[in-house]
Amino acid sequence: MHSAKVDFYDRDIVSMRDLTRKDIEYLMDLAETMIPYARGDRVNHSLKGKILGNLFFEPSTRTRFSFESAAHRLGIDVIDVSQISETSIAKGETFADTIRMVDAYCDVIALRHHHEGAARLAANVSENPVINAGDGAGSHPTQTLLDLFTMKRSKGLIDGLNVVIVGDLKYGRTVHFLADALTMFGAKLTFVSPESLQMPRDIVDDIRKKGYDPYQTSNLNEVIDEADVLYVTRIQKERFPDPSEYKKISSIYRINNQNLREAKSDLIIMHPLPRIDEIALEIDRTPHAKYFEQAFNGIPMRMALLYSILGGEM
Ligand code: NCD
Repeated sequence: MHSAKVDFYDRDIVSMRDLTRKDIEYLMDLAETMIPYARGDRVNHSLKGKILGNLFFEPSTRTRFSFESAAHRLGIDVIDVSQISETSIAKGETFADTIRMVDAYCDVIALRHHHEGAARLAANVSENPVINAGDGAGSHPTQTLLDLFTMKRSKGLIDGLNVVIVGDLKYGRTVHFLADALTMFGAKLTFVSPESLQMPRDIVDDIRKKGYDPYQTSNLNEVIDEADVLYVTRIQKERFPDPSEYKKISSIYRINNQNLREAKSDLIIMHPLPRIDEIALEIDRTPHAKYFEQAFNGIPMRMALLYSILGGEM
């Protein structure tokens, strides 16, 4: 069954705050129908002739390649820049002018940038739609969408799930609006982090305003047995002002078979990846591991976005 059609044509995707539950449900349903196309079992090139501009000013494997793969699966061509040194920014051109140029050369822009707010600025400057592919420690809406989609596919529904989010909740941009969106779907939240890397105050306040009270702790063992979903994040080394602070907490949480002894048998473990050492390799072979499937889900979800923003046809 499909949710009522939502008009995404020509829309920017800058923050999860711009999306309603109805919007998200629509995208998750559309992503589900994209799966055979994402695998290459069916073909839909209805967006042939369109161009995606991939502008990645920060490292990326999954987000960038899955945008590219999603585009190709829909017949969309891709032009991309991944090195500031390759662009006229290196000559002193402003970010806004660079966006204006890319805007003139393509039909939609996927932007990753180290500054929070860069995607909003780009969306204001660009005539064509801009999709935020991660802005600094701010937000990463397409990751949040694929995370919600992965939970729904694995668990059937999100309502009532007990979701434990662990790791660097301060700088980890994938979890900020994931937490907020999960409350929109009626999930119960627990945040596990060292005190110095707790979920930002404004995010917790927003969740409280909605009538939810996430439990916050630094002790993973205390909460693992109740979890339906364990969402693990990397400690975001590159965003630490002081490297010695990073060193102190770098390997603080490490998920292995030993600390999953008390976990539910149908617990799923997610991670936006890349992982460093937060999840032991032995977990990969267990039915708990959902992170590789989660990474694949980036393709159907980004296809759903490109398809609805550019007006594809089945
Ligand atoms: C994340 C990111 O870039 O925010 N990765 C991703 O997009 N899949 C997570 C991270 O870098 O830790």
